Amino acid sequence: MNRPYVFINVAMTADGKIDTFQRKGAAISSPRDKERVDHLRAEADAVMVGGRTLLDEDPKLTVKSEALRKERAARGLPPNPIKVGVVSEARFDSHSKFLHEGGGKVVIFTTPRTSNEQLAVLRSQGVEVFVHAGEWVDLQAMMQTLHEMGIRHLMVEGGATLNFELIRLGLADELSAYVAPMIFGGENAPTLAAGSGLERSAAIPLRLIRAERWEDGGVLLKYKIEQAE
Ligand SMILES: NC(=O)c1ccc[n+]([C@@H]2O[C@H](COP(=O)([O-])OP(=O)(O)OC[C@H]3O[C@@H](n4cnc5c(N)ncnc54)[C@H](OP(=O)(O)O)[C@@H]3O)[C@@H](O)[C@H]2O)c1
Repeated sequence: MNRPYVFINVAMTADGKIDTFQRKGAAISSPRDKERVDHLRAEADAVMVGGRTLLDEDPKLTVKSEALRKERAARGLPPNPIKVGVVSEARFDSHSKFLHEGGGKVVIFTTPRTSNEQLAVLRSQGVEVFVHAGEWVDLQAMMQTLHEMGIRHLMVEGGATLNFELIRLGLADELSAYVAPMIFGGENAPTLAAGSGLERSAAIPLRLIRAERWEDGGVLLKYKIEQAE
């Protein structure tokens, strides 16, 4: 299957949590990590998030540094990467930062749970929308579509369920995690990969390709996902 090269990036605590039990998008990254994430975005053709992250947090997903935006422009690219949302029911409010900040292209993959009226509003705003027939978005078909759009380098910024599904299906090539020196605990606090989980015999093997100890007390880990197809 033709698909983009997919790299997942997360900021997590030492106990693997990517948010607190309150699920309000807790700050985990250090200032240096935020800069690193900005560089990753600037290098990507597109940046993707899952439905709950999208609807609960309304992330802008733009490149923050003007210098990096200019660098992209000098390479003949739009200042911000394409934004991609994977969302079962695409109900956005009219002030959505995800849809409107940065002025770039927005692509939504959704299901029949999104009403025709919601689809029409999105399309009238210039959003490219793909409706997949099942309960959830078909991530394999989605990857093919993104490749056909010319997307070769896709950055995934969570959340836990989307990360897990992409890894489980062999659709993610690389995983970077900034591990902040703190613990959130909480059974219901989301971890790097959630979903239905795997038995030990089906665990997804990783190969560590980079480990850095940072002065802010954090650790940067980069893995190759061995089972990617
Ligand atoms: N620290 C970090 O780096 C970081 C980054 C991003 C997010 N987060 C955190 O992650 C949490 C959200 O994660 P989450 O697991 O609740 O949700 P998520 O991964 O953001 O979104 C998953 C939802 O997307 C929809 N979806 C449709 N098709 C799908 C498919 N094929 N595979 C997966 N999802 C599909 C489903 O919505 P329906 O259930 O409605 O069908 C699913 O529940 C938040 O607390 C957020 O703060 C942390």
